[in-house]
Amino acid sequence: MDGAEIIAWAQSLGRHSDSPEHYTRTLFTPAHQAAARQLADWMRAAGMTVRVDAVGNVIGRYEGAEPGAKTLLMGSHFDSVRNGGKYDGVLGILLGIGCVAELNRRGERLPVAIEVAGFSDEEGARFQTSFFSSRAMAHGFDTKLLDKRDAAGVTLADAMREVGLDPARVAEARIDPSTLAGYVEVHIEQGPVLLNEGHALGVVTSIAAGAKHMITVTGEAGHAGTVPMPLRHDALAATAEMVLAIERRCSAGGSLVGTVGIVEVKDGTGNVIPGEVRFSIDVRAGEKETLDKARDDVFAELDAIARRRGVRLEGNRTHDVHPVACAPWLQDRISASIERTAGARPARRLPSGAGHDAMVMAEVTDVGMMFVRCGAGGVSHNPAETVSREDAGLALAALVDLVRGFTPLQQRGAGQ
Ligand code: HGY
Ligand code: MN
Ligand code: MN
Repeated sequence: MDGAEIIAWAQSLGRHSDSPEHYTRTLFTPAHQAAARQLADWMRAAGMTVRVDAVGNVIGRYEGAEPGAKTLLMGSHFDSVRNGGKYDGVLGILLGIGCVAELNRRGERLPVAIEVAGFSDEEGARFQTSFFSSRAMAHGFDTKLLDKRDAAGVTLADAMREVGLDPARVAEARIDPSTLAGYVEVHIEQGPVLLNEGHALGVVTSIAAGAKHMITVTGEAGHAGTVPMPLRHDALAATAEMVLAIERRCSAGGSLVGTVGIVEVKDGTGNVIPGEVRFSIDVRAGEKETLDKARDDVFAELDAIARRRGVRLEGNRTHDVHPVACAPWLQDRISASIERTAGARPARRLPSGAGHDAMVMAEVTDVGMMFVRCGAGGVSHNPAETVSREDAGLALAALVDLVRGFTPLQQRGAGQ
């Protein structure tokens, strides 16, 4: 395989979208399941056996030279944000498949088994369930999620049944982490650093902490023509002030960022003062202390705005991950592979502002991440997201180099 084939695969997989207008692939939709089947076919053609686990992860396995060998897990997610780009998540799965296809072509078996996981839901766009499927693999499943509903009122449990999964068996997705030799995820950078500095590939040092909340603001619906302005409890005007307060506090600098990506006005009508609004908050920072302080300040401001405007505030946390450090030995291995194959000396090391399944896997095994340069100014979560064939080819070569020389840390003596 080469970079052009990887890109062609990503384009082909991108046809499986929930929308005819743009690329959106959310958990357990017909498009999601068509993509799952396509990935399974490509995994088998690469010489892997394939299983679909209890939460819809598609996992290809390429046995090691010896039975009972530890497993090097690779992969990423094949769901997307709404109107997103075709490489976010998908590229890491395809490069993992391409890497095994190359081993298979050479007839090589390694001191480790290789598994390539297509995680079914990382973005959580349909049910607000970020990292749902890697969490189920690493920790087991939080059954409270089964009652979560999508915009059409379908529960996660029913969506699972519709694709032939049994919600009562979600615990079976959990793996035994002691069987893992580590987890390596290749992902597009989703930023401009590699592009601006002329690097095709990079080594991820750490992944930013993140916290997500869904907030409901309850005011008082009323007639747009008869309620005097000073007497209103306008839930949308309150929300607008809150959104600007979040933006202001999260513009304090450093790695801190804050975003409101969803605002829904309940029964929104042009001549009705909004009575209830639901909105999302996504706050991130490289350091947990920075994130926690910003979150506390944000909620203190939201409470003050709610009191002043006479509206009620309710909220629930939908996601909370600590910052994650990538294992130094895996950073060094990835760096060495990049230097051997892409010639970059030393390979650029950089933090990730985006969250990844690697954050969840880091709670049970050592993780490493390789970034691939994004074109179009580094944009992502945007249909303009793009990767070049050349860079996909360099990423494939670096990953093959990494995997072919891979031995679990403990086999070499710790710390080597
Ligand atoms: O939000 C993120 O960082 C990732 O795309 N889920
Ligand atoms: Mn994403
Ligand atoms: Mn991603």
